[in-house]
Amino acid sequence: MLLGTAEFDYVRRLVQDRSGVVLDDTKGYLVESRLRPVMKRHGVRTLADLVGAIRRRNQDALATEVVEAMLTGETAFFRDGAPFEALRNHILPELTRAPRDRPLNIWCAASSSGQEPYSVAMLLVDHYPHLAGGHARIVATDLSSQALVRARSGIFSDIEIGRGVPRDVLGRHFERQDGQYRVAERVKNVVEFRQMNLLRDPPPLPALDLVLMRNVLVYFDGPSRAAVLQRAASMMAHGGYLLLGSSEGAVGDAGLEVVRHGRTRFYRRNSPAWRGAP
Ligand SMILES: C[S@@+](CC[C@H](N)C(=O)[O-])C[C@H]1O[C@@H](n2cnc3c(N)ncnc32)[C@H](O)[C@@H]1O
Repeated sequence: MLLGTAEFDYVRRLVQDRSGVVLDDTKGYLVESRLRPVMKRHGVRTLADLVGAIRRRNQDALATEVVEAMLTGETAFFRDGAPFEALRNHILPELTRAPRDRPLNIWCAASSSGQEPYSVAMLLVDHYPHLAGGHARIVATDLSSQALVRARSGIFSDIEIGRGVPRDVLGRHFERQDGQYRVAERVKNVVEFRQMNLLRDPPPLPALDLVLMRNVLVYFDGPSRAAVLQRAASMMAHGGYLLLGSSEGAVGDAGLEVVRHGRTRFYRRNSPAWRGAP
């Protein structure tokens, strides 16, 4: 059994140091199953050999591969439904009414394989075509280079489409390609994907009007969660909104006010100053 071994502790430390993701004692099985393909690719038979290879050869690329293998990229189009209803019916109308002399800045943090930012982009194209035409930008970021490759491709399987894409949306915003579905160019064009580590890097846009940071803080420990939230909050525009995952609660002292729309809780920044760069 892996738990309690020096190798498990090494992987656990590596993953937490680089990504913030905490692997507690219940995650031994996950480490074994997720690292098996990495070991196979590199021709090593045991976890001890894999850890030995990272240490001996000072293998940063291999360490990165191990960390990425341990990240959970679970996502879906229009995940949880209600937050997207609230975005469409309340948040986007409010944000678009406010006068501003710059594009509407939307940051989708921890965007995994892209379903979430593409869902927001489809809302814009359908309901705010003037924004989708250059007056809004969605920057979607993730730590995982593999997730970003998939996201940028905009190609999704039948199963991924089946998880959340309504039939009319499928007809409007996807094209069939080689037995899969490809997001239409006018939706793709609204989203820019960038690699970014929430633990280390500053938010990718100044004066954020809308931040989606869903289902990622849940993997971090308390201090990392607080630091990431604080940094994001400090870059939000006056009147900007933050949306977390449905099981992710308190934003502590990030200075944000809770605003509820139906079952969905948003966090709004009410102070005029944001402390980001212009
Ligand atoms: C469960 S997915 C959430 C996807 C999407 N936000 C959603 O709710 O459907 C979590 C994502 O967080 C990313 N992630 C984990 N640690 C990260 C970090 N330190 N910086 C940036 N992204 C990270 C993972 O690569 C993964 O794609």
